[in-house]
Amino acid sequence: METLYTDCLVIGAGLAGSAYAHHATRQGLSVTMICADELSMGANSKWAQGGIIYDTAFNPEQLEKDIIVASGHTANPEAVATLVREGQSAVDELLFDTVTVPFDRDEAGKLKYVREGGHSDKRIIFSKDVTGRAILNNMHDYVREMPGLRLLENHVAIDLLTLSHNSADPLDKYRPITCIGVYALDALSGDIKAIKAKKTILATGGLGQVYRNTTNQQGVVGHGVAMAQRVGARVIDLEYVQFHPTVFLKKNCQLFLVSEAVRGEGGVLVNGDGHAFMDTQHPMKSLAPRDIVARAIHRELLGTEDNCVYIDLSSKSPGFIKDRFPSIYERALACGVDISREPIPVAPAAHYTCGGVYTDLQGRSSVLNLNAIGETACTGLHGANRLASTSLLECLVGAKMTALADAKDVANEEFHLPEVHEWVSPERQADEVLIRQDMRLIKSTMWNYVGLIRSPRRLMRARRILSQLAEEIGGFYAGARLTRSLVELRNAVKSAMLVVHAASLNPESKGCHYLASEDEEIEVPFESVDDGK
Ligand code: SIN
Repeated sequence: METLYTDCLVIGAGLAGSAYAHHATRQGLSVTMICADELSMGANSKWAQGGIIYDTAFNPEQLEKDIIVASGHTANPEAVATLVREGQSAVDELLFDTVTVPFDRDEAGKLKYVREGGHSDKRIIFSKDVTGRAILNNMHDYVREMPGLRLLENHVAIDLLTLSHNSADPLDKYRPITCIGVYALDALSGDIKAIKAKKTILATGGLGQVYRNTTNQQGVVGHGVAMAQRVGARVIDLEYVQFHPTVFLKKNCQLFLVSEAVRGEGGVLVNGDGHAFMDTQHPMKSLAPRDIVARAIHRELLGTEDNCVYIDLSSKSPGFIKDRFPSIYERALACGVDISREPIPVAPAAHYTCGGVYTDLQGRSSVLNLNAIGETACTGLHGANRLASTSLLECLVGAKMTALADAKDVANEEFHLPEVHEWVSPERQADEVLIRQDMRLIKSTMWNYVGLIRSPRRLMRARRILSQLAEEIGGFYAGARLTRSLVELRNAVKSAMLVVHAASLNPESKGCHYLASEDEEIEVPFESVDDGK
């Protein structure tokens, strides 16, 4: 088995992982970054359409208040204050001074700002409707040339290495649980490597792909949360899975995100009769926080034949719509909907994991030398519901603070990186048909029983299905040669069970976790259009 050494091992190459690599290499640390695909395939950050909060210095108290109100007053005030304090300089340093992101500007060259749901001000900068892509493409060009970085594409993390689980020295099990790297699968050759590291950083995104309808990229099934929990790290707030209220929904078309910026620019949510139903639901109407809007849509659809509501953009000219939202316009047009002339059919879908691996504000988890950043981490910043356009900012701030803290530790501490056990691979091939079917079952179970509106009975049903599945998958996993899809399936069932467990333990409806009352109707009105995902 090949063994590699590095100061810092970053698992995941989205915005958080890339930003960490930047700061850590600048501190003189050697960094190895692994990503499950080619780098250019991107990550969840790439699909963020709306934008990034920039002007945090303008009325910071109001921004803090908006984050806390959106969270239903559950967010960790220290995490909120840190994001607001550190936000602007983190953006400046990376997105203006290191790479050049084509943010939209007015004729005088000044940055344009937009407002999104739950925000009381226009404070979000954007690059048309492809902000994540504009940022990440530039970051990835930069990452490829980054001195001090070893990039391993098509490498899938299998399990974290710890002194207690994997050291060849039996006495190491008497030490506190300490992460020393990862076993990784080279998805092209099928070989397994040990990558040993002083610091291991989980930056694998959230877990949206355990749901049938989701905005998340393929493969985003909670790898970080699953791996961390298996070695004993604390994971928290996992019942708070945020559903984005507006995802394009049309028969025989792939789902895609319709940015909240569409409502920020004047789009109004209407039902099939053209009635603006949010007007009576919340003072912020169509721009209320996401959890409120998503549930209002769900209720609006109950008892009707409809499976979607609409965003009415008729207050805007076709020219404005095509220029401001070119990507949404093109994708909808390919599905036969001209959004410059007709309303956009939308429904909620799983979007963002507010919970994750517990960390402090320097990214430290409850396991020594194991960090988590970005969507994988949970500092309590989002509490029970995330405010729009905080996620990219969180990636930048968390990555920077974690890298700086790691640089200090690496300079000042001794690290014990002993020999680890060899990986033994069974020869039998995994059955890809079973893997695909099991993944479908996880997704439909989560969608039907652990969605926007939950009940103890549905959660119990989900737990039963997933427990049985987990047992079968455990057998598979132990007996077959590893493939990327098998690693994914094993982590998906683990993440799904963690969500169900967290949801079952929390009797209080708050933010993204909502339990129906005994007599409440909770059918799932918006069926998936492409069940085969
Ligand atoms: C959006 O543009 O609505 C999604 C971006 C986010 O989740 O903050």
